[in-house]
Amino acid sequence: MIHKVHISLEPKPRSYDVLIGEGALRVAAAQIASLCRRKVLLVVTDETVAGLHLAALETQMATQNVKIRALILPPGEATKSFGQLEKVCDFLLEQEMERGDCLAAFGGGVVGDLAGLASALVKRGTGFIQIPTTLLAQVDSSVGGKTAINTRFGKNMIGAFHQPKLVVADLGFLQTLEARQWRAGYAEIIKMACLSDERFFSWLEQAGPNLLQGSSENLDEAIFRSVQGKAKIVAKDELEHEVRALLNLGHTFGHALEAEAPGQILHGEAVAAGIGAAFSLSVDLGLCPSAARERVLAHLRAMGLPASLGEAPGGPYTPSALVLRMQSDKKNQNGNIHLILCRNIGDAFVTSKVSSSELLHFMEKELV
Ligand code: GLY
Repeated sequence: MIHKVHISLEPKPRSYDVLIGEGALRVAAAQIASLCRRKVLLVVTDETVAGLHLAALETQMATQNVKIRALILPPGEATKSFGQLEKVCDFLLEQEMERGDCLAAFGGGVVGDLAGLASALVKRGTGFIQIPTTLLAQVDSSVGGKTAINTRFGKNMIGAFHQPKLVVADLGFLQTLEARQWRAGYAEIIKMACLSDERFFSWLEQAGPNLLQGSSENLDEAIFRSVQGKAKIVAKDELEHEVRALLNLGHTFGHALEAEAPGQILHGEAVAAGIGAAFSLSVDLGLCPSAARERVLAHLRAMGLPASLGEAPGGPYTPSALVLRMQSDKKNQNGNIHLILCRNIGDAFVTSKVSSSELLHFMEKELV
């Protein structure tokens, strides 16, 4: 069964669908072809995904008489750089891409963020679609139009909101995903439940351990419910002026960890540790019952994810260095650190009332 989530945007023609399920690419092939003006699909991917899945994409698109022209980049977070962005833009210009043409970002979050940004920039905006191949990208990063690269000043510091025309999340691609990458993607599912849907969290507590053991039953449901939750938020606040900031639960802590340990911690692992930290800080500040934190930490650990800053891979981390990183987070305003905290599971809120010294005190306790 293929689930469909509609991302509703204004003006309406910018709205698009997310197709989710095993075989979604086959189902979507004609729709993708209709977006390819010259019967050519330009593809940006990485070496890992190209080796595993590019032939399958070529085969599917051949059924529609569409040819693939692919740019294959090195895998990994370091690819989200100015150098690689230039390479993608050059590729699109060499291929004489026009605004009405379509580029496919075929891979995980790195490829999606980078190719999406190139698509936003070339000729001031060209069409693009997302064909995410990792759990993290299927659940979160391919949906909602955030695109970016990293700089020495931090993660996702240069970017644009640029919405895709279609997202095709085919669960078949997840079969080749490494267990560590799979768990990291699951962190974004936990995030969606924690921020706005306690019933979804309860469901995950039951279903999660089976998913971890490789059962694909319920995985489409988990992805579908996460994307549905995100769709509601993006429809209300596409450009993150207010409620969309909640989607950053765990991310302010997480980005600081990633910046301190490049290449040693996956984004989803950093988010997991950040979610645990957000609940622990909320409890310490008297804002959240400790029973809620215990449930969240227990589920993170049951899924093989770090549940606190001290458990995050890539350490040991220095409290003051993490606070310094958080002080330069792009969501901050007037020098105040913006944090997403929780009153309970499913009840997140944004605050700028936690001072740097309170944060430092918390970090010192978390990182003993
Ligand atoms: N990944 C957070 C967002 O899309 O807003």
